[in-house]
Amino acid sequence: MTVEPAEKLLAPVLSAFWDDPRSWTLETYRRHEGYEALGKALAMAPDDLIAYVKDSGLRGRGGAGFPTGMKWQFIPQGDGKPHYLVVNADESEPGTCKDIPLLFANPHALIEGMVIACYAIRSNHAFIYLRGEVVPVLRRLHEAVREAYEAGYLGTNIKGSGFDLDITVHAGAGAYICGEETALLDSLEGRRGQPRLRPPFPAVEGLYACPTVVNNVESIASVPAIIQRGKEWFRSMGSEKSPGFTLYSLSGHVARPGQYEGPLGITLRQLLDMGGGMRPGHRLKFWTPGGSSTPMFTDEHLDVPLDYEGVGAAGSMLGTKALQCFDETTCVVRAVTRWTEFYAHESCGKCTPCREGTYWLVQLLRDIEAGKGRTEDLDKLQDIADNINGKSFCALGDGAAAPIFSSLKYFRAEYEEHIEGNGCPFDPARSTAWA
Ligand code: NAI
Ligand code: SF4
Repeated sequence: MTVEPAEKLLAPVLSAFWDDPRSWTLETYRRHEGYEALGKALAMAPDDLIAYVKDSGLRGRGGAGFPTGMKWQFIPQGDGKPHYLVVNADESEPGTCKDIPLLFANPHALIEGMVIACYAIRSNHAFIYLRGEVVPVLRRLHEAVREAYEAGYLGTNIKGSGFDLDITVHAGAGAYICGEETALLDSLEGRRGQPRLRPPFPAVEGLYACPTVVNNVESIASVPAIIQRGKEWFRSMGSEKSPGFTLYSLSGHVARPGQYEGPLGITLRQLLDMGGGMRPGHRLKFWTPGGSSTPMFTDEHLDVPLDYEGVGAAGSMLGTKALQCFDETTCVVRAVTRWTEFYAHESCGKCTPCREGTYWLVQLLRDIEAGKGRTEDLDKLQDIADNINGKSFCALGDGAAAPIFSSLKYFRAEYEEHIEGNGCPFDPARSTAWA
């Protein structure tokens, strides 16, 4: 197959000036057309702006791919209630590392996008819920918000438009579940973060029981470029159903891990080409298209288009576009055990299938990795994952089941090798450590 050269595929928009010294300042952002889209947006009627974003085909970049303009359109108008925008910056999906670098390098793209989104949905107060561990990003965000107030992009009567907006930056306390949108809202309201029953979706009853748009950082930060360069430009990239550019996080055993910005629908083969391939002398064994919550793929799937349709048709999900690549030195049982420990630790405990199921998965996996597994344990793993998947209260449960299903599908023989050989063929020392 012909692989397009990397330079033809890169489409740096949000990451265009990340290498610029002091890329995060208002001064740098303005030098790169910053806040020009805002002027155009404020000259439009709010409903026209929503229709424009809807027509662009922008889909949520947090993982689910829900159409952004449609979500804005759900906000009821004339209801007399306050409306809120909450930006989900609680990026925590294993392997996902694109919102945090984006906020660190280019926070004004998010702030400009927030002003535009709030004007469209008629909201005068927006929140950024940031993952608590990233203190340097928190500082940068505070500084960027301060700069935006000083320059008149936030506050009252923004750029003489009569539109007012305040932004509150809130740091979470480091719980994965608070990235689930309703748990995030509970946490923002000052309660323990646990998912709420949906419906009602936040668009109808969200923060303080008012209509709320919850959008991912990258989704909102993409809006200014769409307004500035046009929806046709955006649609000229990607596919009909998954248009536009996006940020991919490439990590693991690759020569040059990092964030790569390109059109939706490119393939891992092309991304690896941009990232210098697997580390020298090694070959790809398995990978995830969107973090560990998406079923894993193998080297047979190198040419699957990384968009919602291509990855979906091949049996996984695009999710957060976090490509974690593992070479032949990796024990798949060990990797799945590590991920499952993460889900068991982060399970909020609200529902039984996830709370109990993830615990039992960890026990079985540790036994298998330590050489104490039995052949029937593989059926048990499958059965427990079946009882979590689709039967849990929120997506965390489904995410925990995903690596179990896919690893048993593609690497059952490796599990059997652990059981028959009484331990991990990759690292016998590790087996005895857990024995
Ligand atoms: P979802 O598909 O249930 O919802 C997606 C969005 O669409 C939500 O904002 C929801 O409110 C809205 N929505 C859906 N149907 C609606 C309706 N009928 N009316 C109004 N609004 C509606 O997905 P969910 O559970 O919110 O998120 C799961 C995704 O999160 C997974 O695909 C996963 O990839 C991703 N994820 C991302 C993480 C990260 O660190 N970025 C961490 C963990 C998961
Ligand atoms: Fe909590 Fe897990 Fe149930 Fe989600 S699936 S509500 S994280 S226990």
